[in-house]
Amino acid sequence: MNQAVSLSPAIDAGTPASALSNYLAAQQEKSFLRFITCGSVDDGKSTLIGRLLYDTKLIFEDQLSALERDSKRHGTVGEEIDFALLLDGLQAEREQGITIDVAYRFFATDKRKFIVADTPGHEQYTRNMATGASNCDLAVILVDARHGIVTQTRRHSFINSLIGVRHVVLAINKIDLVDHDQTVFDRIVADYEQFASGFDFDSITAIPLSARFGDNVVERGPNLDWYDGPTLLSHLENIEISKDESARPLRFPVQWVNRPNLDFRGFSGTVSSGRVSVGDEIVVAKSGKTSRIKDIVTFDGSQQDAEAGEAVTLTLEDEIDISRGDIITQPDHRPHISNQIAAHLIWMDDAPLLAGRSYVLKIGSQEVNASITTIKHKVEINSFAHEAASKLGLNEIGFCNLSTSSPIVFDKYEEDRQTGSFILIDRFTNQTVAAGLVWFGLGRGENLVWHNLDVDKKARSEQKHQKAKVLWFTGLSGSGKSTIANLVEKKLHAVGKHTYLLDGDNVRHGLNKDLGFSDEDRVENIRRVGEVAKLMADAGLITLVSFISPFQAERDLVRGMLDEDEFAEIFIDTPLEVCEERDPKGLYGKARKGEIANFTGISSPYEAPANPDVHVKTTERNAEDAALHIIREVLGEDGIDPDLADFTI
Ligand code: ADX
Repeated sequence: MNQAVSLSPAIDAGTPASALSNYLAAQQEKSFLRFITCGSVDDGKSTLIGRLLYDTKLIFEDQLSALERDSKRHGTVGEEIDFALLLDGLQAEREQGITIDVAYRFFATDKRKFIVADTPGHEQYTRNMATGASNCDLAVILVDARHGIVTQTRRHSFINSLIGVRHVVLAINKIDLVDHDQTVFDRIVADYEQFASGFDFDSITAIPLSARFGDNVVERGPNLDWYDGPTLLSHLENIEISKDESARPLRFPVQWVNRPNLDFRGFSGTVSSGRVSVGDEIVVAKSGKTSRIKDIVTFDGSQQDAEAGEAVTLTLEDEIDISRGDIITQPDHRPHISNQIAAHLIWMDDAPLLAGRSYVLKIGSQEVNASITTIKHKVEINSFAHEAASKLGLNEIGFCNLSTSSPIVFDKYEEDRQTGSFILIDRFTNQTVAAGLVWFGLGRGENLVWHNLDVDKKARSEQKHQKAKVLWFTGLSGSGKSTIANLVEKKLHAVGKHTYLLDGDNVRHGLNKDLGFSDEDRVENIRRVGEVAKLMADAGLITLVSFISPFQAERDLVRGMLDEDEFAEIFIDTPLEVCEERDPKGLYGKARKGEIANFTGISSPYEAPANPDVHVKTTERNAEDAALHIIREVLGEDGIDPDLADFTI
């Protein structure tokens, strides 16, 4: 069938669903190959896919005339058709000359159906490559014959191996530009095989080709007599891919609980692996509750079985508690449960990953808070050496320990790509900042149980006639935090309140004396002092914390650790110029002279609170006034005994 249907979202929207499904139905019997193309900018990926579609005559007529028109307007190859333009990338791509998103397209030959993920080569967009590679059976890694193996080739090969792509085609493109020279080809193949030997790919097939002139893409062409392997298309059509998702243990992540009326309660989702039949015994992974499948319901009615990929609603024999995020599984092959995992992370954000910071972790339909407790190592992409690291930058790959706020259900990535992979989301920007692959669970947290003690926070604070609170003072060095916090504590102490003041400089003499002033050390500094403040609040104390605490993320982390209304963020707002002029410890002077590195406000950032509970502008209030204002705002009646309202210190 000479017809191509693109699954790229832009075209999908305009394709009548029925035409697409008829087409797919007709293609049903053929086997499917999902592959990804990756390479550096200008290696010719888009041209190659364009050529593949063009030479197999899989382009719609109207697409073709649009292409000829566009080639004249934007093309980079004169009057000839520019196949790269065939890939209906975003406008920006045409204008900037780089591909900036993953474009999926579907095509078929007489032998096989294909989904190809075309991914960008620009370094900045490695994340899209990682996204595109998940679920692929094969990767076509393009190399420019003139340049050979470059860093991107290594990075892409490594990510493909990490993500579990089993087969690689090393497409040595632009062979025409090296005069179709076999020695160039042989040298690149030898280079590649040497470094890829550690990757455990099932097959590596090297093919010399010219996407621009078509040699070895679909037809052999006259210029490469010395090569007797397959053309790219024939290799893609014939390579054997063995995979049987339905032979794996059952995993059914519950997307939502379907309860249209009191008589029906079903669990909807997609079977992510394995199969399930009416009558099967199942277990809910987290709770361990068991039951049997009563019915499998779809849009078209009931059915006996469902297998990987099918979206169904399951009903059970028994009324057991199941909610969104639970995984229905089989009793003899349960997934792992832990609140600590070791995982590979591919970092995708401009802002670096900082160990200790908290992110939202999404694994299937489960969503929990998670923080990276340790970066065990990062992978240096040229040598694949393991390097020590305290942060991960854009595109870097690290092996990390993560701890989650509550236990998650998962498989190892090598056992199940779906239930073994997750993403991390920045809680403020809502951006996906990392893709993660679970390597194994760490048994540590599993056997620790929180003990509920008889004398609790309520009992302790009632005995002291107060409510436990954390007053969190944030602001630049020299802003007056410690002075004001000290005054607040004195006043509270004077009226009989039980308090404790944690001061940055002091805590850094003991508990945190191993920490410096890098971003990651500050994150850890605040995480620790947050934990201490939490314990003090649990002891029923009014706890004052006076730390620069420059990042909103960690201040919010601490807020999240405490009960509602227990935490007050107090912004001691003194302009940098004023702090610098006061310079009580002479530190600004030193920082300006370059004698102190990473100095807040000068060479290290300070994120002013967006919504502080109390905002104290020290240019408008003196310390005494500021302290009273804070007590009133945060503690209200609980802070000041009306009789003592005029107390002095
Ligand atoms: S925080 O950023 O990690 O919250 P913290 O409040 O613990 O900082 O410590 C800040 C104190 O350390 C400052 O008041 C100052 O006395 C001292 N200090 C030394 N070096 C620096 C620096 N590079 N940046 C900021 N403060 C520093």
